[in-house]
Amino acid sequence: LFQSAPSAPLDPIMRLFEAFHQETRPDKINLVVGVYTDAQGRVPVLRAVQEAERAWIDQARPKQYRPIEGTAGFRSGVQRLLFGENTAVLQAKRAATLQSVGGTGALKIGADVLKQLLPDAIVAVSDPSWENHRALFEAAGFTVRSYPYYDATRQDVRADAMLDALRGLPRGSIVVLHACCHNPTGNDLDPAQWRAVVDACVQGGLVPFVDMAYQGFGDGLEEDALAARLFAEAGVDFLVASSFSKSFSLYGERIGALTLVSSDPGTIGRAEALAKRLVRTNYSNPPTHGAAIVEAVLQTPALYDAWTEELAGMRHRIHDMRTRLVQALDAQDLGRGFSAITRQKGMFSYSGLTPTQAEALRARHGIYALDTGRICVAALNPGNLPRVVDAIADVVRG
Ligand code: LMR
Repeated sequence: LFQSAPSAPLDPIMRLFEAFHQETRPDKINLVVGVYTDAQGRVPVLRAVQEAERAWIDQARPKQYRPIEGTAGFRSGVQRLLFGENTAVLQAKRAATLQSVGGTGALKIGADVLKQLLPDAIVAVSDPSWENHRALFEAAGFTVRSYPYYDATRQDVRADAMLDALRGLPRGSIVVLHACCHNPTGNDLDPAQWRAVVDACVQGGLVPFVDMAYQGFGDGLEEDALAARLFAEAGVDFLVASSFSKSFSLYGERIGALTLVSSDPGTIGRAEALAKRLVRTNYSNPPTHGAAIVEAVLQTPALYDAWTEELAGMRHRIHDMRTRLVQALDAQDLGRGFSAITRQKGMFSYSGLTPTQAEALRARHGIYALDTGRICVAALNPGNLPRVVDAIADVVRG
């Protein structure tokens, strides 16, 4: 049977993540995967998370099955985070949120919902995009295209080319958009450009699918929700995939949410029922632990305040590392400037390293980055920065 299994290579992120774990050099550095580590190089357990976890364990609740869509408290907390308190879209009951298995699970359930409703639609993803976007939507049965997004020469967004491409898509096409902290480039649309994108989607009858994996890592929780809020105000049908892996440092708990938003409150129940059936036939119902923690933090004012403070701390530390990285690289006099890195947001930076240089970084220095030149700046700290800078300088000099 399994002899006929097609070859199924892992995507570069997971392939290099596995290679990193097999790497035996003790001073190896992982700049591959999007995981935030603190100034000591550890994946933090946030204080708010620890408190919520302790309280949860003290309650010794039975390990009951969870509702397919997650609990009411989790869902309303997620909606508040996305759209703000008592906003029109929530008052009109135009949104339905389901707990998901990480942000990826939200994208997959959303893709399966869309496949049932728009079986022949094209899906457009940014060029470049997160490695898994194309694979995931193709696995859901869609034809996937790219829209222009990034200009490697200017190291900036190609907003006009992007808008032209969106305007050229057939009505009913699905557009995958990065809400903030664009993965992999770190280059985001500004508010005016977002308004133009929303307008192009409305005019062109497109279906936006907003991937919100990094809310709070760009400019702040409110600011990073701009795209979702603009689409909600525009009154279109759209989807949002939220991830709490990064913002709560809960990677292995696989906790996220899919939010479906309808222009018509009369249809949101049907959309939710379809999504629930897809969950039921996939993994039946979602796990408890991560959702219980996120719910407690979102619904308990003291924990919420502690969490937003810690999240801001992570955001500011990344920004500080960007500044230090640029200063240190510029001091190496490598014949090119690196200042674009400080204009980028979130965990990643398109460093401009070539595939050969990324390969040399791994081979000579045990420092793992993607061949596209994407590095995880959230994994830098004062301890590993000098070595990373020296290694980049070495491979750039050739
Ligand atoms: C990344 O892009 O590194 C993260 O989103 C982790 C992943 O699942 O790929």
